Amino acid sequence: MTKKLSLAQLLASLSPEERERLLAALSAEERDALAREWRFNARPDQLPPDGDWWRVWLFCAGRGAGKSRAGAEWCIEEIRAGRRRAVGCIGPTADSVRRVMVEGPSGILASCPEDFRADYEPSVRRIRFPNGALIHLFSAEEPERLRGPNLDLGWCDELCAWSNAEAAWSNLQLALRLPGTDGSPPRVMVSTTPKPTPIIKALVADAAGENPSVIITRASTFDNRTNLDPATLAFFEKTYGNSHLAKQELLGQLIEDAEGALWTRALIEKTRATVQRELLERIVVAVDPSGGTGRGSGECGIVVAGQDWPRPGRPRLCAVRPVRQVHRRRLLGEPSAHIARRAQMKSLRRGIMDAIWSATRLPASTRACLSASSMLRMASGRERSRSRRCTSKAGSTIPGSSTSSKISFAAGSRTATCRPLTGSTRWFGP
Ligand SMILES: Nc1ncnc2c1ncn2[C@@H]1O[C@H](COP(=O)(O)OP(=O)(O)OP(=O)(O)O)[C@@H](O)[C@H]1O
Ligand SMILES: [Mg+2]
Repeated sequence: MTKKLSLAQLLASLSPEERERLLAALSAEERDALAREWRFNARPDQLPPDGDWWRVWLFCAGRGAGKSRAGAEWCIEEIRAGRRRAVGCIGPTADSVRRVMVEGPSGILASCPEDFRADYEPSVRRIRFPNGALIHLFSAEEPERLRGPNLDLGWCDELCAWSNAEAAWSNLQLALRLPGTDGSPPRVMVSTTPKPTPIIKALVADAAGENPSVIITRASTFDNRTNLDPATLAFFEKTYGNSHLAKQELLGQLIEDAEGALWTRALIEKTRATVQRELLERIVVAVDPSGGTGRGSGECGIVVAGQDWPRPGRPRLCAVRPVRQVHRRRLLGEPSAHIARRAQMKSLRRGIMDAIWSATRLPASTRACLSASSMLRMASGRERSRSRRCTSKAGSTIPGSSTSSKISFAAGSRTATCRPLTGSTRWFGP
């Protein structure tokens, strides 16, 4: 139990006399400084592990356990010591990076000590420190932005909530290629409430394997009770008790199976087999379609199970595969040739529109007010004018165009009017 307590908590647990004996040598100023010091307040699980052999520090913990604070403080500590100059911070979305990792109460700006304040430059998604070191901010939604930077340290917050986790994670690994100024290898910290995603499972397996490069620290929501509201923690305990949700979200445990699951992962792994399809006596494809087909509709479950005939009564699961979105018409058996044809047409249409956009040489602000499809219709003479809401500035025109192809904006209004076209070529720049 004591290994989960911070120095501050240990000190607070002493008698007043013992405490005073320890602090007697400190002036009031020094006591103040101590009270603000992260190494004094952090629990051991919130501090970077000892040793220099690890490349990835995985901090698996419950909600509100102090994960983000630990990540922000680690980055600041490394930068302040002058060991790191180019740090990459990645969160699930651009909004959460700003709201949680940068400006949040546990974020980088709030965690900077008074004598080492950082400047946030939102337009270039960067934080600049007094010693010149930079933190570059990335969203996992845009993994391609992680191509190019040279980083010496990384902090990944809520990795299990990343939408493009595999691409963002591998691009980050490739960007982490600079040694620290002390020659130490690049490192990355992952702070997350764990879920059985492929990356987390690979990291956990690495930590447990031979020659590990991953080290794991763990904490529960309740370990951070001194900084959270006691009534809320009591409510959590009462409401979620020993449930599946509590184990994952509060205790920060990696739970592989859904509560009450009939087919556990262990069972599937045990019975998984690679067999020739012809040897299977019976193959069952079970589909549990979601109610809708829109963005918000749930996942569609598909299970393929096969039974080999020589040993009836002993089923073997050949594949169990959740599919994110399956179009209802596909489920009803639309001929695959039609699907391929439609995809082909869609990509062709997109290609044509891109080409037209590029040929018009329209500034991006003007493009925003017209969809490419309405542009196509106007260029082909099928549509002669169009009004749309837009956010462009008043008075934008197509550069180098004649008056008949001008897009004019009423001053102050948000409506763009496209004048009639006499020939499609009029829309194209010089
Ligand atoms: N060692 C600590 N000393 C003082 N305050 C702390 C400590 N650790 C965390 N806190 C505070 O506890 C609160 C919760 O911490 P934090 O936001 O880092 O949790 P989290 O695990 O990232 O939460 P979430 O699951 O919502 O992402 C914050 O106000 C943070 O500043
Ligand atoms: Mg957090």
